[in-house]
Amino acid sequence: MIKLAHPIIDEDDKRAVIDALESGQLAQGPRVAAFEEAFAAYVGVLHAIAVNSGTAALHVALLAHGIGAGDNVIVPAFSFAATANAVLHAGARPIFVDVRTDDFGIDPALAEAAITPATKAIIAVHLYGQTCDITAIADICARRGLVLIEDAAQAVGATHDGRAAGSFGTGAFSFYATKNLQTGEGGMITTSNEPVAALARTLRSQGERTRYVTEELGYNFRMTEVAAALGLSQLPKLDARNDQRRANAARLNELLAPNEHIITPRELPNRRHVYHQYTIRVPVGREARDHLQSALRERGIESAVFYPTPIHKQPLYQRLGLADAAFPIAEKLADEVLSLPVHPSLSSEDVEAIARAVGT
Ligand SMILES: Cc1ncc(COP(=O)(O)O)c(C=O)c1O
Repeated sequence: MIKLAHPIIDEDDKRAVIDALESGQLAQGPRVAAFEEAFAAYVGVLHAIAVNSGTAALHVALLAHGIGAGDNVIVPAFSFAATANAVLHAGARPIFVDVRTDDFGIDPALAEAAITPATKAIIAVHLYGQTCDITAIADICARRGLVLIEDAAQAVGATHDGRAAGSFGTGAFSFYATKNLQTGEGGMITTSNEPVAALARTLRSQGERTRYVTEELGYNFRMTEVAAALGLSQLPKLDARNDQRRANAARLNELLAPNEHIITPRELPNRRHVYHQYTIRVPVGREARDHLQSALRERGIESAVFYPTPIHKQPLYQRLGLADAAFPIAEKLADEVLSLPVHPSLSSEDVEAIARAVGT
């Protein structure tokens, strides 16, 4: 079976983990601090705050900007549910907006039209490893006095006009086991705003600025030294691994070009797509897409649908009455998308086998 994701753990990673295990400190310590420093430099921001998941990163990012009860936060209807769940965790209300078909990201014009006096922030999601139209969203946030949160869970290493994802607003990254940088579970908040960084640090560890002095209602969202050891060991290899993903994607695009039944992913001008997922569209709809997925499985190719249900259609959001509007593009994409293996461990024979299986 050619798997959809394959964590790469090399000898350096194993040595780094063993060193962490033997260091006498398992919970947040010097490796977490070193990973934060290296990650902030990588993204090009002043501060990075490590947490134990991407969901925690989004949650803390919202709280660190003072967003809570009574506030509205604009989110795309087509994303992983954690994007909107984090808004609920913060006590605020998600306001869904439709997305675009070219980059799968929030539509800036629709986002601007959804702003009301209760709107405090926009969460822009960089889905599948390509930035959304982040310069347009950043411009709206600047003009309308809104906080910009970037859900960069899937986009570590992506750039837009040469700037890293996660450096336009307050970034939230995930290092879950299948992501482009993998610490098992893990996340990072990135910002150049000093007060936001300070509050995020406090909130991730029990609301304590000083040990055993509770100043805020905080959490235990700390990263372990073992996770940070993996992150530190993988970060210097990230660009090369992303380049390998890009090469696999370029080859798939070339091999799949003659297939008029599918739409292959496109890297938009001035964006560096890091292909967390290589996501094709089967524009005839859900039945044909699901049929292709079964045919691929029979030929030994794993694939996945990210995501079969847009967030506003999820039972929780229906039950809460938070999403009674229709979002036609999100609903259409949920019927059409299919992610194929693109990870850096694929051989050129694997890439050819994937294209052959899709083509037949
Ligand atoms: C777009 C998006 N947002 C948020 C998350 C949440 O990250 P985590 O699983 O690390 O909590 C993910 C990860 O799956 C994601 O893909």
